[in-house]
Amino acid sequence: MVGGRSYTSTATPDAAARLRPPPDVCPAASLPEPDAAARAHSAAVVQALARQLAEAGGWIPLEAYLRFVLYAPGLGYYVAGARKFGADGDFVTAPELSPLYGAALAVEVAAHLRRHGGDVIELGAGTGRLAVDLLRGLEAECALPRRYAILEVSPDLRERQRATLARDAAGLAARVEWLDALPVRWDGVVVLNEVLDAVPPHVLARRDGAWFERGVARRGDGLTLEDRSLGPGALRALGEARFPERGDYASEVNPAAEALVEDLGGRAGNGTILAIDYGFPRGEYYHPQRATGTLMGHYRHRAHADPLLWPGLSDLTAHVDFTAIAEAGVRAGLSVAGFATQAGFLLSCGILDRLAAVGPPRSIDYMRAAAAVQQLTSPAEMGELFKVLALATDTAEPGPGFRLADMRRRL
Ligand SMILES: C[S@@+](CC[C@H](N)C(=O)[O-])C[C@H]1O[C@@H](n2cnc3c(N)ncnc32)[C@H](O)[C@@H]1O
Repeated sequence: MVGGRSYTSTATPDAAARLRPPPDVCPAASLPEPDAAARAHSAAVVQALARQLAEAGGWIPLEAYLRFVLYAPGLGYYVAGARKFGADGDFVTAPELSPLYGAALAVEVAAHLRRHGGDVIELGAGTGRLAVDLLRGLEAECALPRRYAILEVSPDLRERQRATLARDAAGLAARVEWLDALPVRWDGVVVLNEVLDAVPPHVLARRDGAWFERGVARRGDGLTLEDRSLGPGALRALGEARFPERGDYASEVNPAAEALVEDLGGRAGNGTILAIDYGFPRGEYYHPQRATGTLMGHYRHRAHADPLLWPGLSDLTAHVDFTAIAEAGVRAGLSVAGFATQAGFLLSCGILDRLAAVGPPRSIDYMRAAAAVQQLTSPAEMGELFKVLALATDTAEPGPGFRLADMRRRL
């Protein structure tokens, strides 16, 4: 399992190496060197960070560092024009692997839209691939929403989404609109596909019974990780409640991801939030053996364990504590309407029937699609590590995706 430790990279099949998160973590020295333009961009990020560090007295929490290197306007990884997704980027997400992913997810979304009515709202829509496949799937299910709204913080990703939709779903693109902020009230389905893992966490450490918060300080011209003592307060209380009782331990807590879900829940009229991501229920997340947490970087299809490596050029991410997300939903008045592994969910949604409809089993199209379905559902790839959580405003039966394998009791 990938954690905060460095692993020597073993030989991985090309496709598996592109998964986010991939199965192995590479030592920083073995990663491909950025080109001159990328190095110049990273130097500009470090310069801007140095100003922020100086203003903050020389140290900022890792959470603030991550927020800066991922989202600072014009500089951050997600907002500064790097390719990010796909073969020439840093990682590939489930929607990019196969249109069958969105087609299967559409079965679940359609069931909720039939029950509640309303719109689809997708946060952080990446290249727009999932929007295309969901809209097509919902059309096939005769459950098209009047409006498909996208909340996207990155101006260049917005443009990429517009282009994908115009090219691949021209007849449906008129239903799509982009939001600048969460709506005051929403009805329908909110889709969070690999969004919560991109919300910056705090990293806490307990050593010899004393509590610390991990942060970033200057060292010479560069940056260094530095733990500072953490007094009693809300942040430490999260660590005290969640970390294993004994032993030295470091891991993440993510109040911002919880706040996002609580905020969404508070704005819900009638509807369901579907959160799909890599992560665990709390008992597994804070397992005594996962003693260095789950924070990792993705750079050019390799995973690495150094958040300070080439600031602004790496995707930096942490696994999701699904128990915390479910609790946030419940605080906002939602009920947990389903929790499943991605494999259980996609199989329940009929992904194999959709695969069978791709073409004759010996055709190239079929074989490509079958390989993608294997990646999406195999326990050794995305099938077990990725989970699907449904949070709903009513207490109705779970949707079709949770019929085969509802794991709510594990939360
Ligand atoms: C790893 S990408 C996933 C993109 C896409 N959903 C996919 O699966 O291909 C994470 C995305 O989440 C977005 N994101 C992070 N926090 C967000 C927030 N609070 N609201 C909206 N989008 C957010 C990021 O900007 C980024 O586009």
